[in-house]
Amino acid sequence: MIQLGKGELHPDLFPKKDFQKSLRSVADLYDAYGYNDGTGDHRLKTAVRSYLQENGVQYSANSILIVSGALQALQLISLGLLQYGSNVFAQQTSYIHSLHVFRTTGMQMKGIPFHNNTLDTSYLEKQLKSNKSPSILYVNPTFHNPTTETMSLETRKEIVKLSKEYKIPVIEDDIFRDLWLDNTPPPPIASVDTAGHTLIIGSFSKTIAPTLRIGWIAGPADVIEKLSDLRMQLDYGSSYLPQLAIYDFIASGNYEKHLQILREKLKQRRDYFIHLLETHLHEVAHWNIPEGGLFIWVTFREEINIRKLWSQLMDNGIVVNPGFMYSPYPNQSIRLSYASCTEEEMKKGVLSIKKILQDWSLKT
Ligand SMILES: Cc1ncc(COP(=O)(O)O)c(C=O)c1O
Repeated sequence: MIQLGKGELHPDLFPKKDFQKSLRSVADLYDAYGYNDGTGDHRLKTAVRSYLQENGVQYSANSILIVSGALQALQLISLGLLQYGSNVFAQQTSYIHSLHVFRTTGMQMKGIPFHNNTLDTSYLEKQLKSNKSPSILYVNPTFHNPTTETMSLETRKEIVKLSKEYKIPVIEDDIFRDLWLDNTPPPPIASVDTAGHTLIIGSFSKTIAPTLRIGWIAGPADVIEKLSDLRMQLDYGSSYLPQLAIYDFIASGNYEKHLQILREKLKQRRDYFIHLLETHLHEVAHWNIPEGGLFIWVTFREEINIRKLWSQLMDNGIVVNPGFMYSPYPNQSIRLSYASCTEEEMKKGVLSIKKILQDWSLKT
């Protein structure tokens, strides 16, 4: 199967040699033999803390919880901080709509329009004014999955203002921050929020590999303590082995080196994919050129049957992510990824989409 929409790096992008060195060093670094406090290895937490500080976020190391991926951070929040029936405000089209984590715990999902790098904060404010239930705001502000748009600094400040005024906690899922391709993105919401209403989530899934299952959540110490207690009850914390490998990878300077190489390679892939789309599909679809992250959000100009396109592509051995996965509202989009496939596969995929649309008599 050609993975033309998957949110992961192709194996060619994995820093094999340098990461192998870090894996070998784990044998020397390993020094935790009992049930620890479950919040994670202190060296990795210190490294995460430095990273957050570099990005203007001032949480201390005991305000950081290492988790088994960003997804677990979301699970802990929904189990530990929200009550049954709470409202989860989120960008109208969002990764979070593809998850069961909030719905299965009885949360009400409320979409907020997000276009041209701007969240409709007037709409959000109206909702908050009439809102009686406990609520949170979940945002993926930087190279948003799936649309790839990045919230402006202005919008980030507006969010902080509303969060303070209406006492609504913000979950900032900042998992794509380091995958900028052209310019560094605006600072995290958590760096603008001096009142400590923001929990920030990160992960090594998108920059190294999702199978490591290591991410983090940082926020006010009392909230992190509550989430850590819950984490202890669930599984006593994440395995130390991948944590130590990642710690060594960072401490050796190889992570930063890898990120620089990765950005260059992703940029080449993005440019090639955009070139293919311009050449073959510009009559039938439009897209923004992503400035970071992994995806291209392609929207068809005419109404077409996205489910049928998805299924016919699947029959051709090509997997794309249909837009309906990310929104309860109808849309004419698919999510493509320039990270998860080779250039040859990109070409095959785009030509296959073109052929299907031509067979449907759409002028491409
Ligand atoms: C926006 C966003 N948040 C969280 C996750 C989950 O990441 P992890 O592998 O760290 O659990 C993903 C994965 O696709 C994602 O796109």
